[in-house]
Amino acid sequence: KRPVGAPDKALARPVNKVGIVGAGLMASQMALLFVRRLEVPVTLTDIDQARIDKGVAYVHEQIDFLLLKGRINQDKANRLKGLVTGSLDKAEAFGDADFVIEAVFEELGVKQQVFAELEAVVPEHTILATNTSSLSITEMASQLKNPERVVGFHFFNPVAIMPLLEIVRAERTDEGTLATAFAVAKKLKKTSVLVKDAPAFVVNRILTRFMGEVLGAVDEGTPVEVADRALAPLGLPMSPIVLLDLVGPAVAHHVAGTLAESFPDRFRQSENLGRVVAAGKRNLYVYDSGTPELDPEVAELF
Ligand code: 3HC
Repeated sequence: KRPVGAPDKALARPVNKVGIVGAGLMASQMALLFVRRLEVPVTLTDIDQARIDKGVAYVHEQIDFLLLKGRINQDKANRLKGLVTGSLDKAEAFGDADFVIEAVFEELGVKQQVFAELEAVVPEHTILATNTSSLSITEMASQLKNPERVVGFHFFNPVAIMPLLEIVRAERTDEGTLATAFAVAKKLKKTSVLVKDAPAFVVNRILTRFMGEVLGAVDEGTPVEVADRALAPLGLPMSPIVLLDLVGPAVAHHVAGTLAESFPDRFRQSENLGRVVAAGKRNLYVYDSGTPELDPEVAELF
């Protein structure tokens, strides 16, 4: 059954090579999914070779893990590994790519710059997708010669597991771009929904409100562990603050900021989380014992 609002699939263009801008956690998880499901060459770029190497190594390790779990055989593992490469040079990496997705730092200017660089090196037909969590895709595409090929392609963490993909139609996105995005999503075995280019789209509006209320209680003086534990009886797959930690404190804080700007009556950034992010902490919890435990340095900041 065709997802609501999806264009005619006959308009979809073939995708025989994928490019990923960024080699961080989301980007590497995406690289793994693309190579596993599409079985086409996937190239990662980043700002330095060390980051690229780390991203490629992650994908290779995860392929080995799939082999260990018996999900793929040795031949396939070798083939998939051979399809994943990294390059510092965007022209080399993306010169023949059909679908390029960016997962770089969440700042409009940075993403606009990435799209401008991409437009200079990719062929006319190439889709430019973004995994942004909350930024305006219309603005991201506004300075391009061909904004109609830009689309939002928003994954959820853990990328391999979460079934949903928000496909975002920006003001100028054309039907061929959307049809291609839906066709790729189907090959990735994701459930896609077509959403409007509104701040934080649909899911992150709800999640941010939900996590924001928990953080609000913490900002008002409830200890973080208590606020977290209080929600356990609701039977959630993971507690709201562990979920925030999975998403990443900086990303969660940024999305809250975008929403607070657009809807100040409903959203606010947490002061406590702001302090943790400003201190450069990448996680709130340590997971060494198997059960999440609040990092003592974070506890000092809360
Ligand atoms: N990364 C990769 N894979 C993971 C993982 C992780 N962090 N955590 C678990 N998995 C995998 C496991 O390896 C396992 O894979 P397998 O089936 O191939 O063996 C599978 O997930 C199930 O693992 P568990 O048996 O440990 O499963 P749980 O029952 O504990 O579920 C969970 C784990 C699926 C992560 C569950 O806790 C969950 O659904 N949590 C909520 C996640 C969520 O809401 N994510 C959305 C965040 S919002 C977002 O990303 C948007 C962004 O823009 C902010």
